Amino acid sequence: MASQTVLLCPPTYFEVRDRKNPYMRAPIDRAKAHEQWKAVCDVYQKAGLHVALIPAVKDLEDMVFAANQVFVGIDEKLGKFIVPSEMRYPSRQREVPYYVDWFADRGYKVIGLDLRGEFLEGHGDLLWHPGRKHVWAGYGFRSSIGGVKRFASAMKEFRVSVTPLRLTDEHFYHLDTCLSPLSADAAILYPGAFSAEALDCLRRDWPRLHELTRDQALKLTCNGVVAGNSYITSHVSDGFKRILESEGLCPVVVDISEFEKSGGGVFCMKNFI
Ligand code: ARG
Repeated sequence: MASQTVLLCPPTYFEVRDRKNPYMRAPIDRAKAHEQWKAVCDVYQKAGLHVALIPAVKDLEDMVFAANQVFVGIDEKLGKFIVPSEMRYPSRQREVPYYVDWFADRGYKVIGLDLRGEFLEGHGDLLWHPGRKHVWAGYGFRSSIGGVKRFASAMKEFRVSVTPLRLTDEHFYHLDTCLSPLSADAAILYPGAFSAEALDCLRRDWPRLHELTRDQALKLTCNGVVAGNSYITSHVSDGFKRILESEGLCPVVVDISEFEKSGGGVFCMKNFI
């Protein structure tokens, strides 16, 4: 979904305390993280986007990853809405109410789902297909198939279709680590992250799918953000640059090494609102 405002959360209390994904390793350098995060804000502003901030909360060490706590949508009748996540890890579940309140205070309708016993992790696993009323939904490591199914049935009311995609490699634990929609016709993906069936669905649907190698994908290369004609990401190889250029996009590289130590890339650190 195209939008002009990006929501970020400062890394005031950012830390690596546990191992929710295979990338996570302590310690992080918080002063350096803060510098890197500020550079991310600057890149968005230079790309012409407005940056909105949600205050960080003490003891919520992963709150900086603003993609996960709610799914954001818009419906002609209802207007802007959110679907609150049910995060798999209790430490991250505590972030959700702060984000829900932030959106509710700004007039977003809140569509609460009954997700008891299931998991749904916002835009970590739920990616809009640009220009369509369609969402690609990863599950297996963080969101559960039951969570995705409940989300899909709630979206029917808004005539939004949802395609579940089973993820099979724990290094690609969220869909945003292995699929990056660039436009209505093109996306980047790492094929090794998907079940055969999921890969079939993707290949049938996208006119152009650019494939990354495992080494490229492990750098969270495709956890990037399209902003105007820029693609903001943390690593760009020559091959990847050519892919972006063939799609009319210009790579903008920003160093976020401290956040990669938590398994997060550029995409994970924001939500489009
Ligand atoms: N350490 C965080 C976690 O494991 C990283 C979240 C990254 N977010 C994302 N959308 N991939 O939950």
